[in-house]
Amino acid sequence: MEVERVQAIASIAMTDDTIPIEYIRTEKEQPAITTVVGKELEVPVIDFRNWDEKEVVKAIVKASQNWGLFQIVNHDIPSDVIKKLQQVGKEFFELPREEKEKYAKPEGSPSVEGYGTKLQKEIEGKKAWVDHLFHKIWPPPSINYGFWPQNPPSYRAANEEYANCLHGVVDKLMGYLGEGLGLEGVELKASVGGDDLAYLLKINYYPPCPRPDLALGVAAHTDMCALTMLVPNEVQGLQVCRDERWYDVKYISNALIIHIGDQLEIVSNGKYKAVFHRSTVTKDKTRMSWPVFLEPPSDFAVGPHPKLVTDENPAKFKTKKYSDYVYCKLNKIPQ
Ligand code: SIN
Ligand code: FE2
Repeated sequence: MEVERVQAIASIAMTDDTIPIEYIRTEKEQPAITTVVGKELEVPVIDFRNWDEKEVVKAIVKASQNWGLFQIVNHDIPSDVIKKLQQVGKEFFELPREEKEKYAKPEGSPSVEGYGTKLQKEIEGKKAWVDHLFHKIWPPPSINYGFWPQNPPSYRAANEEYANCLHGVVDKLMGYLGEGLGLEGVELKASVGGDDLAYLLKINYYPPCPRPDLALGVAAHTDMCALTMLVPNEVQGLQVCRDERWYDVKYISNALIIHIGDQLEIVSNGKYKAVFHRSTVTKDKTRMSWPVFLEPPSDFAVGPHPKLVTDENPAKFKTKKYSDYVYCKLNKIPQ
């Protein structure tokens, strides 16, 4: 069965300024009703080059406890590496539909990899105003190049270069996050899969939407993975929840936006908080974002780190295989 792509729906919707009913959110979710207007939240900014290590760890701990979200600047990924990643992704989504469909997620495939339109069963049957492409970028043996577009021809080189650069930042960040928990060296990384930690790239493509007041890009959620490292384009759209109201996040160019995901909340035994977030769409601009989800291998068991569990601070979460965690979350089974 042919899946309808939001990109195609958007081009029809623009001609008569309406959107199909399944994209109209209930009043509990509609951005126009639930967004606090005129107040952007400034997410903590952490400087990897100019701050000393103590200062970085302190700021990361504070941001991970209070926000579950922060931005890294001076992360040493050259801006042209990020620009190329963005450029080849944009070129892919601008290809004719048949070209993109060559990479469609095969029906019934157990993996999320591929070009697609809908991942989760959505709240009250509503749909997200976004198309996506998922594929792994690290570790190299886990990569299925069948899901990497061959067009544009520089797609592979750009993604490999980004993955190589990102790998260095991830290891550094995992070290700092671990230090903030009182763990040593690679202990934190080891507790989410060590060198088998998978980097799953998602490209979100949010076409212009005639009713951005009624529709949402990605609905409210916390990320299931350990950490998400996200690069946005220049179009505003990420929102976080504070006291049950939604705020636009002010992000700065060239920063990597880091989300604490569920698995780090679990490993830290609740010290770090997974950030509850969503994304909005705009009337006349295409928004894109490139999150990389750092995921434990599917059969890897994740639970509160033994060093962080004591009689005074008992385990707040069960230990379970990552695949079981994902299954329960997607099927809304209590963890
Ligand atoms: C997401 O959380 O999946 C999307 C976030 C974004 O596009 O900024
Ligand atoms: Fe997310």
